[in-house]
Amino acid sequence: METIVASVSPQSLAQAAELLRQGQVVGMPTETVYGLAANALDGAAVARIFAAKGRPQDNPLIVHVDSVAMWETVVEHLTPAARRLIDAFCPGPLTIILPRGRRVADEVCAGLDTVAVRMPSHPAARALIKECSLPLAAPSANLSGSPSPTTAAHVLGDMDGRIPLILDGGDCGVGVESTVVTLAGEQPVLLRPGYITREQLEQVLGCPVQLAHAVTHQLAAGEKAASPGMKYKHYAPRADVTILQGDLAQYREFLQQHAGEGVWALCFEGEEEGLPVPAVTYGLAADDATQAHALFGALRRLDEVGAKTVYARCPSETGVGLAVYNRLLRAAAFRVVAL
Ligand code: TXA
Ligand code: MG
Repeated sequence: METIVASVSPQSLAQAAELLRQGQVVGMPTETVYGLAANALDGAAVARIFAAKGRPQDNPLIVHVDSVAMWETVVEHLTPAARRLIDAFCPGPLTIILPRGRRVADEVCAGLDTVAVRMPSHPAARALIKECSLPLAAPSANLSGSPSPTTAAHVLGDMDGRIPLILDGGDCGVGVESTVVTLAGEQPVLLRPGYITREQLEQVLGCPVQLAHAVTHQLAAGEKAASPGMKYKHYAPRADVTILQGDLAQYREFLQQHAGEGVWALCFEGEEEGLPVPAVTYGLAADDATQAHALFGALRRLDEVGAKTVYARCPSETGVGLAVYNRLLRAAAFRVVAL
């Protein structure tokens, strides 16, 4: 199959909508990362997403809608708490899990009785959903296990020959996937940190939001994941990544002792000067949103340069930094060293 990359225009949106109506899969920009979209009401179309990604069948997808009215058609019903979150943060990078509606294809929910839904703010994603009038199931548009794509070129790198069309909407603003919160249990639980922070959710909900253990810890053998996606190795470059906790002086000293063939630094901008090994940077030390924006591109870059061993500066665990730390932990297979 030939894969076409088309910049967003009325023509390419119409072509994408037609492919979606026919049950095909299309690469779609969102404000977080690129998604692989298909009609969420059509099981055969959704199965094509799993095939294109090589995704395990038990890992459910997020449904993308363009209005509250469409949201109501894919869930059992919108609870008052869900409505408060939607009013505060949607359209935007927040996914809410609720009991599922019957119309959603079983393949989307991977056997669960809940469904994850979000309303993206990216104009191309919104225009595409409107154009085809369908809720779109879309996971991140990477091959299962590699970093999420934040440019159309990243999507093409993973999906060339696997899907007919990628809409190029430029660089994704946020750069990490949406915050995932479940409202399907007795208390809200944050399953995946993102640009919308736990603190923001608590403020709007007026109650504590639990942090799922797997956000910052490796699941023990046999431990059940609250969200199936948490149990898979993710975002991993080919190199062995280790996160180093400590200040810049300690980081430099560690690199002095561990410099060698194939060793690279993953540090913040401006820190690369004077390091004994080559470096790729990911944002500014004091600005977690810039780290989120740059992280996945930096991980892909480390693959391109052939890094074998990567030592990463550690982000903070507060605000958007928690999302950055969560993704980097998985890239590092949970290897963290305190200096
Ligand atoms: O920003 C995003 O959310 C991007 C863009 C494309 O919208 N999408 C994305 O999808 O990151 P994906 O499939 O890569 O991640 C969805 C996550 C997975 O960890 C999955 O296990 C979890 O959400 N999830 C989906 N449905 C769920 C459910 N019903 N219960 C618990 N977790 C669920
Ligand atoms: Mg993903």
